[in-house]
Amino acid sequence: MDFATACIHHQRRIQDPARAVVEPLYLSTAYDHAGETVGRDHMTNGYDYARLQNPTRQTVEDVVCALEGGDDAIAFSTGMAAISCLFELFAPGDRIVVGWDLYGGTIRLFDQVSKKNGYEIEAVDTTDLAAVESVLARGARALFVETPTNPTMAVSDIAALATLAHDAGALLIVDNTFLTPYFQKPLSLGADIVVHSGTKYLGGHNDVLAGFLVSARPVLSEQLRTLMNTLGSGLSAFDSWLVTRGIKTLPLRMERHQQNALAVARWLEEQPCVDYVLYPGLEDHPGHDLCLSQGTGFGGMLTFGVDTEERAQHVLECVKLVLFAESLGGPETLITYPRVQTHADVDPEELKQKGIDYRMLRVSVGLESVDDIIADLEQALAD
Ligand SMILES: Cc1ncc(COP(=O)(O)O)c(C=O)c1O
Repeated sequence: MDFATACIHHQRRIQDPARAVVEPLYLSTAYDHAGETVGRDHMTNGYDYARLQNPTRQTVEDVVCALEGGDDAIAFSTGMAAISCLFELFAPGDRIVVGWDLYGGTIRLFDQVSKKNGYEIEAVDTTDLAAVESVLARGARALFVETPTNPTMAVSDIAALATLAHDAGALLIVDNTFLTPYFQKPLSLGADIVVHSGTKYLGGHNDVLAGFLVSARPVLSEQLRTLMNTLGSGLSAFDSWLVTRGIKTLPLRMERHQQNALAVARWLEEQPCVDYVLYPGLEDHPGHDLCLSQGTGFGGMLTFGVDTEERAQHVLECVKLVLFAESLGGPETLITYPRVQTHADVDPEELKQKGIDYRMLRVSVGLESVDDIIADLEQALAD
């Protein structure tokens, strides 16, 4: 089945007598076993208690699993809930290698929770394969990366990282939030687990929080599903229904996000007060060719730096159509201030090294007319 079709159609696990075109929303937390022989055919319908499984959640999991080409997908209440659950795979003393440029909330989890739990976390620039190899040579249970990264838009070679991780006996985990399976399928490149903030492009409408883990193999799937049930962090039925609905238009939205982002990036490059533009779709971006060779597009996220801190703050205060808000992947164009929002809790020295300063702005380019987005940025950038 083609990707666009799989976003809309999927095998229904439950036959609906009303034959509704849209999947029903099952809010029930408990499931009746009347007529079943206890201990024998108990739970023949596959449902018992909704923390473990619910037909509406199962639908969104089936869709995401098919799109990423996984063995199983598990839906969580947020992206951070998915990553937190994933990290329960590890134990005190385990060494985990992580990309040095990640979403700030993920870094906070590693710094404030994983380290407290006795995990050894080592960050490395995952665009530098020799550096990754030498860090992995000291042993690791997993390598966790984002590509492109949030917010510096660095692109890493997923297939090469998979080889390095596997040679070292580690799992490769890829956060695929920015590109989604529409543009990039990490499991097909050798990754073992894919992570999503489903709050972003999968939900796609800035109205639902969600997260996903997609695993490549049954053994991992079973471990992760047991952890999700034990921790109780699964996605609610209504939120599952919203994400299923959002995914139906994923291909159309991703194409338009990308088209608008490229036009905004090219326009920003021409502005005298803009010092740099980080968007993999620009031919001179260092990750441009790699992004295309391991996927089919560049997505709708871009980061740029202006000449002064005052101008960055002026832009945030003056945008009208573009909203000064912290999220991404929805129809509305959002501008975010990584230094004080997404990365506020990251060590200032670390931020300095990564160039995440008070002149940097991140844009989730939305689905509006691109002329209106550019006109708004133009008036906000003006003195
Ligand atoms: C790349 C990435 N991963 C994970 C997360 C966490 O997702 P959530 O906000 O749904 O918990 C975010 C949130 O911005 C993100 O940008």
